Amino acid sequence: MQRDDVAREIDQLRAELRHHNYRYYVLDDPELPDSEYDRLFHRLRDLESRFPDLVTADSPTRRVGGEAIPAFATVKHEIPMLSLDNVFSAEEFTDFDRRARDRLGDLLGQGADLLSPPQITYCCEPKLDGLAISLVYEDGVLMRAATRGDGVTGEDITHNVRTIKNVPLRLQGETVPRLLEVRGEVVMPKAGFLRLNEQAAARGDKTFANPRNAAAGSLRQLDPRIAAQRPLEFYAYSVVRCDGLKPEPSQYGLLQQVRQLSFRISGEIRRGEGTEFVQAFYRDIQARRDSLPYEIDGVVIKVDALRFQQELGFVSRAPRWATAYKFPAQEAITKLLAVHFQVGRTGALTPVARLEPVSVGGVTVSNATLHNFDEIERMDVRIGDSIVIYRAGDVIPKIVRVLADRRPAGTTPLPLPAHCPVCGSDIERPEDEAIARCSGGLFCPAQQKEALKHFVSRRAMDVEGLGDKWIEQLVDLALIKTSADLFCLKKEDLLPLERMGEKLADNLLRAIDRSRATTLPRFLYALGIREVGEATALNIARHFGTLDAIMAADESALMQVVDVGPVVAESIATFFRQPHNLEVIAKLRERGVHWPDLEAQGLREQPLAGQTWVLTGSLGTMSRDQAKEKLQQLGAKVAGSVSKKTHCVVAGEAAGSKLADAEKFGVTVIDEAALLNVLSSHGM
Ligand code: IVH
Repeated sequence: MQRDDVAREIDQLRAELRHHNYRYYVLDDPELPDSEYDRLFHRLRDLESRFPDLVTADSPTRRVGGEAIPAFATVKHEIPMLSLDNVFSAEEFTDFDRRARDRLGDLLGQGADLLSPPQITYCCEPKLDGLAISLVYEDGVLMRAATRGDGVTGEDITHNVRTIKNVPLRLQGETVPRLLEVRGEVVMPKAGFLRLNEQAAARGDKTFANPRNAAAGSLRQLDPRIAAQRPLEFYAYSVVRCDGLKPEPSQYGLLQQVRQLSFRISGEIRRGEGTEFVQAFYRDIQARRDSLPYEIDGVVIKVDALRFQQELGFVSRAPRWATAYKFPAQEAITKLLAVHFQVGRTGALTPVARLEPVSVGGVTVSNATLHNFDEIERMDVRIGDSIVIYRAGDVIPKIVRVLADRRPAGTTPLPLPAHCPVCGSDIERPEDEAIARCSGGLFCPAQQKEALKHFVSRRAMDVEGLGDKWIEQLVDLALIKTSADLFCLKKEDLLPLERMGEKLADNLLRAIDRSRATTLPRFLYALGIREVGEATALNIARHFGTLDAIMAADESALMQVVDVGPVVAESIATFFRQPHNLEVIAKLRERGVHWPDLEAQGLREQPLAGQTWVLTGSLGTMSRDQAKEKLQQLGAKVAGSVSKKTHCVVAGEAAGSKLADAEKFGVTVIDEAALLNVLSSHGM
């Protein structure tokens, strides 16, 4: 390939990727399936690795990959980064508005009549609760990202900010400004924050108090590879320097302009006249606060016209043309009354704090999570302590810190309970683990319930209709203890349950009966062995072929299976060494739980290994999940979207855009009948 051709293709790929980034991150309306985006991305990366001198810093491939920096450099802000004054009530906002109108005086009045006094047009924005940063672009290329710092000097965090996927490395559009400084907020969306904390808790690491701390902690890393793994997003909210674009007369217009250049702005921004509009905006956003994907701590109200902003100017460190209009706080102080421990499926103890009820952001909170025992030790939280709790929307309230100076006399550190609060068995906590567990195993009713819920769940034995409520009652009434007991249930056992009826009981019994016919991977998954998820269960079943072979395998044999390491292997071997587990398995088989022989089906050969299949539309003879499972058992990968690499698309009724994709890429399309043929030819 000629160098010129490569250079041209690289340019073309970068432009395409930028366009698709814009569709995805700014407009929230992607045109391409992820797999196709990945294909373009990999092609670019491949060309760049073969022609390193054609790599540029603004290439979409260059987000991560930089080395850790030795220390943060300081950056002087050309224009200081100010903060905002706050108002907390309708009255205070009315005062703000009156002061602004007084100052504007005649300037505002032009064109208004006496009966309707002139009103200010405001740009109303959510106040994102993250970290303010400044981004400087020269000739459309991101040159520098900095924190606010003290407003005059901040820290250079370009290496981390480059890893935030919706921060454009290069601006798009026909004309890019020679110089542009955009400011905005880096936030961690609630969902990503929850996931990050769950992962930290599972590893026994410290959890973050709230999404803002998590965002700040991520940007304060010297190593950009850490920031790259954190789910961060950037929202632009102001333009402070712009040279080379059509002048815009308003804040609202400026935001639309930067959106065109590739910046994400909040979808909640509205423009309207006067205090009533602002109050309605405030109430609307407050009502929807919990359902927004990111945290906000109020709204920001800005005088929209830039000439009015200029006229109003600044007072000390804050503009007179804008104010934060804050919501009630999401943190509150209360007392810790007690700590209870909940027991999960694998016996893991989760400490739950009982609190003196306190209102946080309009909701009364009386429980909070402490994640794991490590967290209790780290904070040294004690009964009677005054503590700060944090609650946001659907995030479970958590204890953030202890106010040690308010600690009453005579408190003692909280001990790890010696016995399970549910069954009284010993609590175990291996030296190197954060998680303490009840050693009672399936003797413990709490673990029984969780294990049974897992056993009957859709992706395990799939006992239709046997929901959590029934399991709870069945265990509480001592009608069942283990999964094997399910298969001895009789109608007269079920009828006394609350809200049970003849018909329901019949249906449940039929569903239990039907579940006896299962598959080895499902059965293995249903056993609820620690560390054995669906994918691992499938790999193990395929590798060994029979349950007896799996039960007989030692750690080293288990480690021969794809993706099974020492931790998983130990967990499986330990499980099958417990006499109690062996007894339950024997009873399950005795009571008719069975699965087809994998060997007989030639399953272990995996005839479709290495192929990627895509299912679309609905099938008549089975659900998509069932088809997926069968294809996977034959070794195929089942993907969600079509790409050039797809081996085959199965089109059911009302197949959608994937069919068009298949045509575009020239991928084979088959119907349900042909799928059934493929499956039956492999004994499925
Ligand atoms: S404008 C001079 N708009 O709130 C005006 N700030 O104390 C500067 N913030 O540090 C800020 N959302 O981090 C503005 N839509 C928004 C905002 C916003 C969040 C933060 C920003 C600033 C703090 C104000």
